[in-house]
Amino acid sequence: MEIKKVGVLGCGLMGSGIAQVAGTAGFDVTVLEVEQKYLDKGFAGIEKSLAKLAEKGTLKESPEAVRGRLKGSTKQEELADCDIVIEAVIENLQEKKKMYGTLDAIIKKDAIFASNTSSISITELMTATRRPERFIGLHFFNPVPLMKLVEVVRTIATADNVYETAYEFSRKLGKVPVRTSDKTGFIVNRLLVPYLLDAIRAYEEGVGSIEDIDNAMKLGCGYPMRPFTLLDFVGLDTTYYITHVMYDEFKEQRFASPPLLKRLVMAGWYGRKSGKGFYDYSDPNSPKANRL
Ligand SMILES: NC(=O)c1ccc[n+]([C@@H]2O[C@H](COP(=O)([O-])OP(=O)(O)OC[C@H]3O[C@@H](n4cnc5c(N)ncnc54)[C@H](O)[C@@H]3O)[C@@H](O)[C@H]2O)c1
Repeated sequence: MEIKKVGVLGCGLMGSGIAQVAGTAGFDVTVLEVEQKYLDKGFAGIEKSLAKLAEKGTLKESPEAVRGRLKGSTKQEELADCDIVIEAVIENLQEKKKMYGTLDAIIKKDAIFASNTSSISITELMTATRRPERFIGLHFFNPVPLMKLVEVVRTIATADNVYETAYEFSRKLGKVPVRTSDKTGFIVNRLLVPYLLDAIRAYEEGVGSIEDIDNAMKLGCGYPMRPFTLLDFVGLDTTYYITHVMYDEFKEQRFASPPLLKRLVMAGWYGRKSGKGFYDYSDPNSPKANRL
C-alpha cells in the first residue's frame, strides 16, 4: 500500500515534530488537537524549527513550502482519508483508547494506526480498534527533527505488509528504523533505563560522587550525555513512572526504582523542569550537584 496522506494526533512536543518531518518528506499532513490554541502553539514551534533548519542549509526547499503541506484541525472527520495515523497524545491509557475507539469508525478501513507511546503496550491499545492487524508502534525520539531513530514495533497481530509499509515510511521520513516487538521499553529504554538506575545505585553505594560518575561515563565511554544530567533532563518523575511500568512487565530488580529516586520524586525534585534534581539549576548555565 502507498502512503500519501498522514494524520498526526496531538500537536505537543512529539506530534509537532512528527508532523514537521512528514511535511519535510513531502507528505500531506493533518494534525488533530483538542483545541485551536494547542495547534497554534505546536505550529509556532514547527515554524521556528523550520526557519532554523533553513538557516543551517539542511532544508531542501523553503520553510513555506513545507508549512504549506501541514494543516491543523480540531475535527476528527478531517482525518478520514489518511493512509496512516500517528498518535502522539498524552501518555494516558484511557485517553488513548477512547480516542482510538472513535477514530476507528471514522478513518478509512485500510489505514494504518501507529502509536508513539513510550510505555503503554501497543497490544493493549490495538484492542480499542477493529484493525489489530493494521496497528503498530512508531516510537520517535525527542527532538524528532534531529533524532534519527524510529523503533518500529510489531505486535503478535500485526500483518507483515503493514509492518513493512510502516518501516519503509519511516525511511522516507529520513529516519533510521529498527525492528522491535511489543515488550515494554522496546530496545532503547530496555537498555538505557537499567543503566541510569545503576548510576543512582552506584551513587547510593558510595562508588563516586554525582559529578565523578557523570564525568566517568562521558569521558570513559564517550557517551554524549552524562547519566545524572540525562536523568535530570528526562525528568525524575517520568523516569520513576517508567520504572513502575518496566518492573511490572519483567519483575526484574534491575528495573526497580532505587530508594533515592523515589525520595527525590516525593520531594518534588523532578530535575531540570523543577529547578532541582541531582543537580541544582538556580544558575542554569552552571548546575551544581546536590548533596543527597
Ligand atoms: N516527550 C518525549 O520525549 C517522548 C519521546 C518518545 C515518545 N513520547 C510519547 O509521545 C506521546 C506524546 O508525548 P509528548 O511529550 O508530545 O506530550 P505533550 O503533552 O507535549 O503533547 C500531547 C498533546 O496531545 C494533545 N491531546 C490530548 N488529548 C488529545 C486528543 N484526544 N486529541 C488530540 N490531541 C490530544 C494535548 O493537547 C497535547 O498537546 C506520549 O505517548 C509519549 O509517551 C514522548
